[in-house]
Amino acid sequence: MVVALPWLIFASTLLLASIKSSTASRMAKPGCRETCGNLTIPYPFGISEGCFREGFDVSCENNTVYRHNSSSRLAIYNINLLGGQARVNTLIASNCFNNPGGWASLDTGEFFTVSTKANKLTVVGCNTLAFLVGFNEYNVGAGCFSMCADKQSVDDSGQCSGMGCCQTSIASNLVSSNITFDDRFNNSEVRGFNPCSYAFVAEQDWFRFEASYLEDKNFTEKFKDGVPTTLDWVAGNEYCDQAVKNVSTYACIGKNSQCIRSPNATGYLCTCKDGFAGNPYLEEGCEDINECSFPDQYPCNGICSNMIGDYSCSCKSGTQSIDPRRETCDPIAASERARLTKMFTGISACAILLLICIFALLIECQKRKLVKEKKTFFQQNGGLILYEQIRSKQVDTVRIFTRAELENATNNFDSSRELGRGGHGTVYKGILEDNRVVAIKRSKVMNMAQKDEFAQEMIILSQINHRNVVKLLGCCLEVEVPMLVYECIPNGTLFDLMHGKNRRLSLSLDTRLRIAQECAEALAYLHSSASPPIVHGDVKSPNILLGENYTAKVTDFGASRMLPTDEIQFMTMVQGTIGYLDPEYLQERQLTEKSDVYSFGVVLLELITMKFAIYSDSAGERKNLASSFLVAMKENGLQFILDKNILDFEADLLQEVAQLAKSCLSMTGEERPLMTEVAERLKSIRVTWREQLIQNPSTETEKLLQNSSHYDPSSTGQHRSLMALDLESGR
Ligand SMILES: *[C@@H]1O[C@H](CO)[C@@H](O)[C@H](O)[C@H]1NC(C)=O
Ligand SMILES: *[C@@H]1O[C@H](CO)[C@@H](O)[C@H](O)[C@H]1NC(C)=O
Ligand SMILES: *[C@@H]1O[C@H](CO)[C@@H](O)[C@H](O)[C@H]1NC(C)=O
Ligand SMILES: *[C@@H]1O[C@H](CO)[C@@H](O)[C@H](O)[C@H]1NC(C)=O
Ligand SMILES: *[C@@H]1O[C@H](CO)[C@@H](O)[C@H](O)[C@H]1NC(C)=O
Ligand SMILES: *[C@@H]1O[C@H](CO)[C@@H](O)[C@H](O)[C@H]1NC(C)=O
Ligand SMILES: *[C@@H]1O[C@H](CO)[C@@H](O)[C@H](O)[C@H]1NC(C)=O
Ligand SMILES: *[C@@H]1O[C@H](CO)[C@@H](O)[C@H](O)[C@H]1NC(C)=O
Repeated sequence: MVVALPWLIFASTLLLASIKSSTASRMAKPGCRETCGNLTIPYPFGISEGCFREGFDVSCENNTVYRHNSSSRLAIYNINLLGGQARVNTLIASNCFNNPGGWASLDTGEFFTVSTKANKLTVVGCNTLAFLVGFNEYNVGAGCFSMCADKQSVDDSGQCSGMGCCQTSIASNLVSSNITFDDRFNNSEVRGFNPCSYAFVAEQDWFRFEASYLEDKNFTEKFKDGVPTTLDWVAGNEYCDQAVKNVSTYACIGKNSQCIRSPNATGYLCTCKDGFAGNPYLEEGCEDINECSFPDQYPCNGICSNMIGDYSCSCKSGTQSIDPRRETCDPIAASERARLTKMFTGISACAILLLICIFALLIECQKRKLVKEKKTFFQQNGGLILYEQIRSKQVDTVRIFTRAELENATNNFDSSRELGRGGHGTVYKGILEDNRVVAIKRSKVMNMAQKDEFAQEMIILSQINHRNVVKLLGCCLEVEVPMLVYECIPNGTLFDLMHGKNRRLSLSLDTRLRIAQECAEALAYLHSSASPPIVHGDVKSPNILLGENYTAKVTDFGASRMLPTDEIQFMTMVQGTIGYLDPEYLQERQLTEKSDVYSFGVVLLELITMKFAIYSDSAGERKNLASSFLVAMKENGLQFILDKNILDFEADLLQEVAQLAKSCLSMTGEERPLMTEVAERLKSIRVTWREQLIQNPSTETEKLLQNSSHYDPSSTGQHRSLMALDLESGR
């Protein structure tokens, strides 16, 4: 027995591993001898008849296992059941200078081939050429030539490097082979240090060349019984799909065994299914692995329970597994830890989410703050009321401007653009993008009541389309201070014309009456034509704007009310201006059309007296124009109160106007005429007056001309052009 002890240990370790430590299971067929010497003989190998599969018979002689019997000269000292390999000893071919022509044949027999992966043809010698010729499917061969002139040229580093030793690959699936030497080369020349050459097929990892092997004695002594060679074997030469069809020859008949294709040779092998171990070639060979017995291979820190072909790992009751299959579970605090982990993960996730949310919210808040602000203002400023109206189709002409549009139009509300300041706000001149000139009223109202009022004006104005009413173009609600956009009326207010910066005392009577008539028509329209009727509520000269050619335009509907039919609005708060305020309204708190008539009466008075509604007389006493006028009428002292510039006109005409004013100023609303009547009266007065003017131009024209001139008491100059202009513009 040449085999060294470490070699055997290695071999048995391999076997042990190959059967997955299932030492308890039997490897041989029942009733058959299982071991020979130190070697276990697993089925399909077997010694006696009925114990082996066809082609796998072995003999056991002198505690050595031989293929077939010792005459085969193939000693088997390891069988790898699952890997389909066996290690055998093979003979060495030698060619000596005094005994040439050596050879060594190897006939592996059916199902066995020389492993091409594991083995090499190795030649030891100087001046030698050896061949391995053989047969797989074809006749094949390979050779290896080694030459070294003297002992110095031999590699002594233990490598088979071509200096005294060479190696070459062998063909695959060789079933029979013969190692021979080329007789053109012999050892005569080198016999001093290398009398013989040797050639053999051996495991390449095993062979280690030594220079001393070149000496005949050393080598043959050491490898007396041959060299280890790995053979591949297969259960059958066909592949699984074919093999399984022939029940009489199929090898993998075990309960839990299965067929696999051999990776090293042509044919198939058997193996146990997952979770089973043992001999797959035996009927009851594959046994369930009790995984719980091998915690290193099948870890389980909980309660391991074996199952057929598998195992389960559960944790003690009250504890929880992290990996229910086979990973660890903490038997003491698994559930607690899992809970904590979950909780922690949850909390972290929540925290991160929260942070993201907060950031997103902050950004969104910033964005929305502006939008919301605008929206709030929009609502506060009566946007909702307006939208209600728009929805109910009562408002369809009003455009809603954005803040930016109006800021652009007014050069950011520059003070140079200011047109005027009033009780309700500041009016700016604005130039829209389409170059339209507009007046933008920036309300200074702040409280809710006033905001309602603002919306009121918006709604009222949006429904009115009259030549003598200032046209509302749109509004802007998304600002703290709501804004209205009107058509631009360039010539200031009637108040300014009479008393203020545009003061023209020489205003012709016709112009005055025309302005009055236009106002009356506008109010008449509001009272009768609009639906529902609208009461202006704050008729006064500052609320009458003058357009081109002094066309009157009634404005400021902040105090206006739409009157529900047959119902008189009860006001909790009296609005209006002292001097113009209907005394009845003041008392009864009921705003009616007749309140406007009263206020209009005062405006008419202003036009013919050129006095303020509340004025100071020569003695410095503050007086109410309406009261003074009524007193003067009663005492026939009209000439003392009327504007001296118009006194020269037809007294009848003035008397008629004064009578009209007086009727407007009646204490009770019932006694006052309707606005339509007032407008009619003014119209007829003007017509009469014009007729007289044409019939009798000599005297009147002179006076008219004088009146048409700029105020200059001493002036008597002729200003025909001005008169003509005034007449042209008259209606
Ligand atoms: C079997 O192995 C043991 C040690 O493992 C060794 O002492 C013994 O000599 C071996 N027997 C044979 C026949 O090789
Ligand atoms: C086995 O041993 C016996 C005696 O030791 C010997 O006669 C015989 O030749 C051996 N057989 C083989 C095959 O080695
Ligand atoms: C060995 O086996 C061969 C065939 O494999 C056979 O011819 C021979 O008789 C056998 N020898 C012995 C001693 O059994
Ligand atoms: C195939 O050959 C390799 C290398 O020699 C070996 O490790 C393996 O066990 C062999 N068989 C199988 C089934 O892999
Ligand atoms: C091997 O080859 C040699 C030389 O060619 C020959 O004499 C011998 O019979 C062969 N052996 C076999 C088994 O073929
Ligand atoms: C060995 O080879 C040499 C030449 O290479 C030759 O002369 C000699 O006869 C050979 N010896 C034998 C025994 O064949
Ligand atoms: C074998 O080799 C060793 C050195 O490796 C040498 O001492 C010895 O003489 C050689 N011959 C024999 C027969 O051992
Ligand atoms: C099965 O195998 C046997 C033995 O090799 C052979 O005689 C038989 O013809 C095969 N049957 C089939 C169906 O291949």
